[in-house]
Amino acid sequence: MAKIAVLGYGTVGSGVVEVLETNKNSIEKRAGEGIEVKYVLDLRDFPGDPVQEKIVHDVDIIIQDKEIDVVVEVMGGIEPAFTFVKKALEAGKSVCTSNKALVAEHGPELLAMAKERNLNFMFEASVGGGIPIIRPLNQSLTADEITQITGILNGTTNYILTKMSQEGSSYEDVLKEAQDLGYAERNPEADVEGYDTCRKIAILTSLAFGSTVKFEEIQTEGITKISTADFAYAEKLGCVVKLLATSFKKDEKVYAITAPFLIDATHPLYNVNDVLNGIYIHGNVIGDVMFFGAGAGKLPTASAVVADVVDCVKHKGRNVMTLWSYEKLELGSAMEVER
Ligand code: HSE
Repeated sequence: MAKIAVLGYGTVGSGVVEVLETNKNSIEKRAGEGIEVKYVLDLRDFPGDPVQEKIVHDVDIIIQDKEIDVVVEVMGGIEPAFTFVKKALEAGKSVCTSNKALVAEHGPELLAMAKERNLNFMFEASVGGGIPIIRPLNQSLTADEITQITGILNGTTNYILTKMSQEGSSYEDVLKEAQDLGYAERNPEADVEGYDTCRKIAILTSLAFGSTVKFEEIQTEGITKISTADFAYAEKLGCVVKLLATSFKKDEKVYAITAPFLIDATHPLYNVNDVLNGIYIHGNVIGDVMFFGAGAGKLPTASAVVADVVDCVKHKGRNVMTLWSYEKLELGSAMEVER
């Protein structure tokens, strides 16, 4: 029986515990052994919740427990998540995370730490919620030279844009709804200003091109300046407004941008609505590939995290995640390039 610890019992953390319980039998078959949550780290207590008996408030209890093979980090934010993840890897535990801020900022370092120790640092849930996208880039698309990635990568803003344009709802009301449904980040500024989307395209671009994209260098605009007049104008043109993130390669240079775009019905992302995410990839051998599904939410995100846990258990002692190098990928200015 593999023993794991979950750091953070919020929306995703409680989803991880639920998925492991709901699909216990099939997960055991796929992992080759059962998976049991031994500890849940949280600042809070949960009286009456069966998880209460597993709650610890001190991460070192987990770090020092030799029985723990895998640590799931679903706290979000850089600190203390970064410190805890490093401690876990140093103690010989693989780590699975949904934390895109952590991966965008420290991905290469944490991947290298895991590789040196024959462990895994996995982050399928950090982009696209439940949609498999990290694993395809890491495994299935490695025969290709990727020339373009374009995605709707943030469920909250896609939900807001969809409801505002289709139902005429107010920005404030829909943002509140998205928060209540557990889609939004703790600080919704990261969603609506495009920072969450920007970090996600930085991760995908780093994986696709094998070197580090500094997310701070990606030109980023969110949805806060969009008005009802923009929706009316889009409709007149037969278009919809979508917050897109794109990176593409042209003449050996890589470009990336996050911004609202007008797209028409011929665009593969036109019908990606509500909290759904869509990711379109072009490879020089495979051609076009499209990924589509629940980009946020408790169980879809937990599904991706638990799949990583299964991989860590199955591949114990063997590193399976591709490394992207520390070398910085110089981006061209996406606004100036003719496509
Ligand atoms: N706040 C994020 C979103 C959560 O709305 O997409 C999933 O990364």
